[in-house]
Amino acid sequence: MADRYLTFTGTTPGRFLTRRLGLPQPATLKRWSPQRPALEGERLLLTAGKSDLEWRDAGLDLTASAGKPAAVLLDATGVRDVETLAEVHAALHPVVRSVAESGRIVVLGAPLSASDHHQAAVQQALEGFTRSLGKEIGRGRTVNLVRLTDVRAAGSTLRFLLSPRSAYVSGQVIVVGAYGEGAHGGREGAHTGGARDAGEAPAGSDRPLIDPDRPLTGRTALVTGAARGIGEAVAETLARDGARVVVLDVPQAEQDARRVADRLGGTALALDITASHAGERIAAALPDGLDVLVHNAGITRDRRLVNMPAERWSSVLDVNLASVLRTTDALLESGTLRRGGRIVATASIAGLAGNAGQTNYGASKAGVVGLVRSLAPRALAEHEVTVNAVAPGFIETRMTAAIPLFIREAGRRMNSLAQGGLPVDVAETTAWLAHPESGAVNGQVVRVCGQSLLGA
Ligand code: NAI
Repeated sequence: MADRYLTFTGTTPGRFLTRRLGLPQPATLKRWSPQRPALEGERLLLTAGKSDLEWRDAGLDLTASAGKPAAVLLDATGVRDVETLAEVHAALHPVVRSVAESGRIVVLGAPLSASDHHQAAVQQALEGFTRSLGKEIGRGRTVNLVRLTDVRAAGSTLRFLLSPRSAYVSGQVIVVGAYGEGAHGGREGAHTGGARDAGEAPAGSDRPLIDPDRPLTGRTALVTGAARGIGEAVAETLARDGARVVVLDVPQAEQDARRVADRLGGTALALDITASHAGERIAAALPDGLDVLVHNAGITRDRRLVNMPAERWSSVLDVNLASVLRTTDALLESGTLRRGGRIVATASIAGLAGNAGQTNYGASKAGVVGLVRSLAPRALAEHEVTVNAVAPGFIETRMTAAIPLFIREAGRRMNSLAQGGLPVDVAETTAWLAHPESGAVNGQVVRVCGQSLLGA
C-alpha cells in the first residue's frame, strides 16, 4: 500500500500545507540505482582528539574541506576525556547545516575501555550524541556510529554507510572487529580493500579477485521466504551483486518462487522451512556448498497473550526461531556453509522493544538476537563464518499493509525519517553483511528502521 502522505508532501502545495500545520516533513530518500550508485558530492573527514587511525589505508575518497558535503566522517576514536569530547561539537557544529539532503554523517569511535572509565564514559557519550543528532538532523540525512580499531577492516562498512544503499539505516552503533578480524575479508580482505573494493584474493585462497560491482561473483546465496516481500528484494540485491541465488519458499508459493528465481537466473527450492530435516534437504540440494545463508522467512499470528491459543504461539516460534536454529546447525555441521561464509538472520524491532499483541513474535525475534550474539564468536572461530542480524522496523510490505490504518500510519511516521522503509533497504543491509570484505562485522544486530522510536 503506497504511502500517500509521502507522495503528498513531495509536492509543492503538499509541502507548504503540511509545514503550515506543523506536520511531519518526510524527505524523499535518495536510494541506490544504477544511475545513482554513489552520493553526489564530497566526503569530508574531520577529527576530534588525537587519532591513530591510518586514513591513507582506507581506500576512501576523502577531503579536508567541502562547501556542501554529501557525507561527513568524524574520527572521534581519539576522544578520551570530556575536554576532547568538546572537539566533537567544535568539528560538527559549523558543518552540520551544510550537509546535503539524504547526506550521511558517520562518527567513528573506539572500543570502550575496561580500564579507563573516563575513556569509556566519553566513548559511550558518542552513542547518545549520534542518536540525538540522528533525531534532529532531518532532510533524509542519517547519522551512525562505527566502533573500530583499524579502518582497513571497516572498508565495506564505511562504503555502505557513506552510500545511498544505507538510506533507511540511522542511529545505529556498529562494532567492527568485535570478535577478531577473520572470515575471508576481515584482515586479509581489508588489506585488499584499496580504492573501490578491488584487491587480491587472501593469501592461500582459491577465491577469485573481488569485483567491486559484483562482489558476490562465484558465491551461492540461499534466501528463505524469498517468493515475495523482503526476501524477494534480498534475492534480487544479492543477484545484482553477482551471487547465484536459491529462492526458498513454502510449496504453496512455488510458482512465485520460480518466477523470482527465473528472473534472477537462480533456482527455486520449494520447502517448508519447518519440515523435519529441512537443513539436510537444503544441504542435499546444494552439493557444491553455500556461501550466504539468509534466514528471512517469518510469520506473525498476533493476539494478546490472554487470547492466544497455543497453536499461534508454536507456529510463530517454529518458523521464526526453531527452524532458524535447526537449519543453521545442520548447514554448519554438514560443512555446507563454506569457510568465509555469511549468515544473516532477520530479527525485528519488535524483538528489541516488544510490541502489544506480539508476545509470540517478539519472543521469536528476540531469540534470533540471542542466537546471533552467542553463535557469532564460535562460528567465526570454528567455521570462519560470520553471523549477524538485520532488525527491520516498519517496512512497506504485504505484512505491514495488513495493519489497521491508524496503527500503520503511526508505524510509518514514528521514526527519524518519518516514513516506512522499503524491502530494498533491508536487502542492501543484508548485502553489506554478506560482502566478502565484511568479515570483521560479526555478532551485530543492525536495525533498518529509520531510527524508529520503538526500543530506540
Ligand atoms: P512476507 O509475509 O511478505 O513474506 C514472508 C515469506 O516467507 C513469504 O513468501 C512466505 O511464504 C515465506 N514463509 C513463511 N513461512 C515459511 C516457511 N515455513 N518456510 C518457508 N517460507 C516461509 O513478510 P515480509 O514482510 O517480507 O517479512 C520478511 C521477514 O522480515 C520476516 O522474518 C519478518 O518477520 C521480518 N520483518 C518484517 C517487517 C516488516 O515491516 N515487513 C518488520 C520486521 C521484521
